[in-house]
Amino acid sequence: MEFKIKSGDLAKQKTPCLILGVLEKRKLSEPAEAIDKASGGHLSEVLRKGDLDGKAGRALMLYGVPGVGCERVLLVGCGKRKELDRRTYRKALAAALALLDDTRTTSALCALPELVAEGMDVYRQVRDTFATCIDKVYRYDQTKSDEKPPTSPLKRLEVWISRKQDIGTAERALSHGAAIAQGTVLAKDLGNLPGNICTPGYLAERALTLGSDYADLSVTILEEADMAELGMGALLSVSRGSRQAAKLILMEYRGGKDGAKPVVLVGKGLTFDAGGISIKPAADMDEMKFDMCGAASVFGAMKATLELGLPINLIGVVPASENLPDGDANKPGDIVTSMSGQTIEILNTDAEGRLILCDALTYCERFDPAIVLDLATLTGACVVALGKHPCGLFTQDEKLAAEILAAGEAAGDRAWRMPLWDEYQEELDSNFADMANVGSRWGGAITAACFLSRYTKKYPWAHLDIAGIAWLSGKEKGATGRPVSLLTELLLERSGTVE
Ligand code: BES
Ligand code: MN
Ligand code: ZN
Repeated sequence: MEFKIKSGDLAKQKTPCLILGVLEKRKLSEPAEAIDKASGGHLSEVLRKGDLDGKAGRALMLYGVPGVGCERVLLVGCGKRKELDRRTYRKALAAALALLDDTRTTSALCALPELVAEGMDVYRQVRDTFATCIDKVYRYDQTKSDEKPPTSPLKRLEVWISRKQDIGTAERALSHGAAIAQGTVLAKDLGNLPGNICTPGYLAERALTLGSDYADLSVTILEEADMAELGMGALLSVSRGSRQAAKLILMEYRGGKDGAKPVVLVGKGLTFDAGGISIKPAADMDEMKFDMCGAASVFGAMKATLELGLPINLIGVVPASENLPDGDANKPGDIVTSMSGQTIEILNTDAEGRLILCDALTYCERFDPAIVLDLATLTGACVVALGKHPCGLFTQDEKLAAEILAAGEAAGDRAWRMPLWDEYQEELDSNFADMANVGSRWGGAITAACFLSRYTKKYPWAHLDIAGIAWLSGKEKGATGRPVSLLTELLLERSGTVE
């Protein structure tokens, strides 16, 4: 897609479709008022007839509006001015984009960001507009056989800015929004691929491709023999039940100062989770192809960072494996030794994410990280606790917690903090090893985080359980690309690049 910032006399703008906001009750936004004037009151005439009341999410296409340069006008309801927040704004924008899709409109000029929502500014609003647009026109077609898969007709989106002095800000918002969207699309594409294509080896290949696409990125793949040498007994125990070799993918971007401590992102790359010997029920098991979405978000955040050339040192670490039942698979009661030296009794082979992550987290010590942030579709319990709107944030570091929560708010990709208290730790006691890999039925997201906390004592660390946000089910089944926006926001802030 192509993007552009436009300004100048709105009535004279040439475009197949001009998108304007209408507020409740039938109140025109400022740009809409300008067009109303130029057209001799055409818009107010239409509204007076009652075709659109301004309720958020309603949209109406007008043809033959006189006195203006555009071919069509798309009016979209944005609700009450006082109640216009990011959520309502996105809803209105989505309605406009859906109507563009229905009418097979290929190019549009959007004046909606003029209605700055609560808690937003021009930068955020324009950035969100482009990012939301790319998100909405996304179509998965990688494994469809149609020669011409159904792509979105929209090829060009322009945003109109009234104040000349905002143009620089809007341009920056455009480039940031487009980079975030590219990262999100990469994360969605990887997430949506089936388990028989997106294997650990495939993820490794994609990392190497990213490395050859961007000169600033160096990629290293550790093989099972390397992992064995490092003593990664936990990670290797998960992959033993699979015919696909595990990979430990390392992506290093040194955009920051020499010697500046890197931000390290660790993503769970479980390319299919059948549960192992503690096998999962059949219903919805296909969704466990999404169990590598943590890894996908690391790829996505890396892609956005590379596109933006952020002045920061960023390392991505992806332990990739399958979890399947097999004669050589982990058995309940098996005890393995992690790279840290701590022994683990595997009481449930379906709690495999923490097993591959703990060795990856120990490996991170060598980077002398500023922070380590892990992203993992770790527990169904987190989805029970929080539903599908925020991800769960776990950390004992107050400053880091505040930073991540703020980044989530700012990006519209929110996290919600969960406790990580010592009270929960004793659930992991084992009679036979240093710890068990599961606790009791209750608070499963927290005991999972407690497990990881035992491997992250040497650096500031936070864990995001993204099981609820990484994909949607039902008719809209598909990867969301979250939390690439949150991560990129954090990296923009840390590198001092954000507005
Ligand atoms: N990948 C799953 C977590 C998951 C399950 C995410 C369903 C989203 C939907 C993870 O590996 C897992 O199986 N976790 C177990 C942990 C349990 C055995 C302690 C779970 O959540 O049931
Ligand atoms: Mn599992
Ligand atoms: Zn899993």
